[in-house]
Amino acid sequence: MSGEARTDGAPPSPPPPPLRFRAAGVMSLANGVFVTAATTEGNSEMSHHVDDHTLGVLFRDARTHNGWQDRPVPEEVLRAAWDLAKMGPTSANCMPARIVFVVSREAKEKLRPCLAEGNVEKTMAAPATAIIGHDLTFYEKLPELFPHTDARAWFVGNDALIATTAFRNGTLQGGYFIIAARAMGLDCGPMSGFDNAKVDEAFFAGTAVKSNFLCNLGYGDPAKLYPRNRRLSFDEACRIA
Ligand SMILES: Cc1cc2nc3c(=O)[nH]c(=O)nc-3n(C[C@H](O)[C@H](O)[C@H](O)COP(=O)(O)O)c2cc1C
Repeated sequence: MSGEARTDGAPPSPPPPPLRFRAAGVMSLANGVFVTAATTEGNSEMSHHVDDHTLGVLFRDARTHNGWQDRPVPEEVLRAAWDLAKMGPTSANCMPARIVFVVSREAKEKLRPCLAEGNVEKTMAAPATAIIGHDLTFYEKLPELFPHTDARAWFVGNDALIATTAFRNGTLQGGYFIIAARAMGLDCGPMSGFDNAKVDEAFFAGTAVKSNFLCNLGYGDPAKLYPRNRRLSFDEACRIA
């Protein structure tokens, strides 16, 4: 049984508005892209709508960067990105993600032998590389993070649930972090081409933290972008059941 299936005493969420009311909120933007505005019958207020520029920064114009300007990332920017990313939801508010920001030359050299060959040059050039990991003892913080029930007890002794929950929610938090970093004006270059065991030994020895993926951070060099690949459309990737 997963942690999410447990009842936490909260009242059930109201059902979502019928689809036809949402469809009424679809609006066409000048560039032909459609966004849905949060509308319900008799209320056209766009309470959850972000502006077109923001959508560009976070999604449409954001790219995966391979080359970096020689411009450092201030620590305050990394802190501000975390302060946004931490607000993204995790099951039982478990927050298993742990991030090491590799910035110093010494730490970069520790990372170098862990990297797949094709990721070495860009990672060494990036002003910062985030190691997104997850803590397999995350549940020890649940009495503080989810205090209204004994959520820690769901996990103690259940290694499969611990691993699944840590990986799922740590990955989500890594995704939140990418979007938060973009919101703070950073470019990102996520990577899974590295030796997890080597990274764990180099950066998480003596802890229960396991690496998930890396993410170069900085101010990208647009000249080094690869051509944009197409994305699956709604009809290719989704269906309404
Ligand atoms: C989890 C993850 C792992 C990735 N691993 C690598 C990698 O090891 N090396 C690499 O060059 N790009 C890697 N990428 C980059 C993807 O190929 C890239 O994000 C994707 O093609 C979309 O590119 P775009 O954002 O520029 O459209 C990875 C991306 C993600 C999200």
